[in-house]
Amino acid sequence: MLFDRARAVTPGGVNSPVRAFNAVGGTPRFIRSAQGAWLTDVDGNEYVDLICSWGPMLLGHAHPEVQAAVAAAVARGTSYGTPTEPEVELAEEIVSRTPVERVRFVSSGTEATMSAIRLARGFTGRDVVIKFAGCYHGHVDALLASAGSGLATFAVPGTPGVPASSTELTLVLPYNDREAVTAAFAEHGPRIACLITEASPGNMGVVPPEPGFNEFLARTCREHGALFISDEVMTGFRVTREGQWGLDGKPEGWVPDLVTFGKVMGGGFPAAAFGGRADVMHHLSPEGPVYQAGTLAGNPVATTAGLTTLRLATPEVYDHVASAADAIKQAASEALTAAGVAHTVQATGTMFSVFFTEGPVRDFADASRTDSGAYKAFFHAMLDAGVYLPPSAYEAWFLSSAHDERAVTTVLEALPGAARAAAAAGQDA
Ligand SMILES: Cc1ncc(COP(=O)(O)O)c(C=O)c1O
Repeated sequence: MLFDRARAVTPGGVNSPVRAFNAVGGTPRFIRSAQGAWLTDVDGNEYVDLICSWGPMLLGHAHPEVQAAVAAAVARGTSYGTPTEPEVELAEEIVSRTPVERVRFVSSGTEATMSAIRLARGFTGRDVVIKFAGCYHGHVDALLASAGSGLATFAVPGTPGVPASSTELTLVLPYNDREAVTAAFAEHGPRIACLITEASPGNMGVVPPEPGFNEFLARTCREHGALFISDEVMTGFRVTREGQWGLDGKPEGWVPDLVTFGKVMGGGFPAAAFGGRADVMHHLSPEGPVYQAGTLAGNPVATTAGLTTLRLATPEVYDHVASAADAIKQAASEALTAAGVAHTVQATGTMFSVFFTEGPVRDFADASRTDSGAYKAFFHAMLDAGVYLPPSAYEAWFLSSAHDERAVTTVLEALPGAARAAAAAGQDA
């Protein structure tokens, strides 16, 4: 079996842990090809894809225009290590849609947040970083941190391999908790370089900011001379053409100093970015003293894929994804209610998740109450019915403009049986 071969040469048989099905049990499907809303595994089984590569595939798989643009780019050579036109065009596109004035490309969301934090520290001359529990910003040492013993105490490493010295300048606070933020700034204000937050968290399941929370964070940072970093790696160009900032009506009050992007802007290729205020970005090498670089940063194939995707992502695309998401959200809730399963569906724009616990879920502690046994049964029943959900109870479900009636109907038909499986798992527990 391919999984056995994979495990013989790769830890856990996968190249990113959540793919391994550890949280739900069983064997990950190895996908051979994908088209539109559908994945086909190496045994020829088909699944409606509700992962969409963890966000990037807003237009569905193998979109013909993206493929054509990529094929043309590949034919011109795949990497030169020089500046190219597609990078400029993609940067112009991003600057025209978001609050950032300058943008720098990297190859992954992790690099984007890592570089944004370095720049914030270099710009402010300060060292402390604030993040929220349950927000994921990639595997940056300083951000793989768990809360210390008190709210305003420094964090401890969240994984072996991260030295205590890498997290001793990180504060981890509960999400949506203004008092905790105020207390942290009161105690450490002059040392705080930046606060980083997902613009609307999707990595503990979807936990939207309470009204005004992002504005509050931006204002508090400003008052203390710290930078506000909005991580839109997941939400950027996905929840709207302008990301979460657009969804929230582009409030003046929460224009971030720095923003990180990834996923959709790479069109399914390894591309990500960070950007922000011109005076802050001016501190970046080679204009300024803060060093940052990348061999494949701004790669012409990846930026062509991203640019083509963003240009094709019209308002109609977002409307379509929204109506498909609405149908699935509603049907999931109805099926779980009918089966008597405690749950809550939370969304930001078209990105949503189903928690197997009563809502509202407003932070990581609430999310942790989700019944992972019920999710496990639900997940496998959906998989058996031809729907590939994220193999973890703490992830957003993603759709694309290729999720047509056939794909959505397949999901709707699978839900009642999966809800009954979740109910039965609850009784067994
Ligand atoms: C909000 C957010 N930031 C950063 C990252 C890290 O991105 P990457 O996996 O490309 O390193 C992710 C990945 O899921 C993410 O969701």
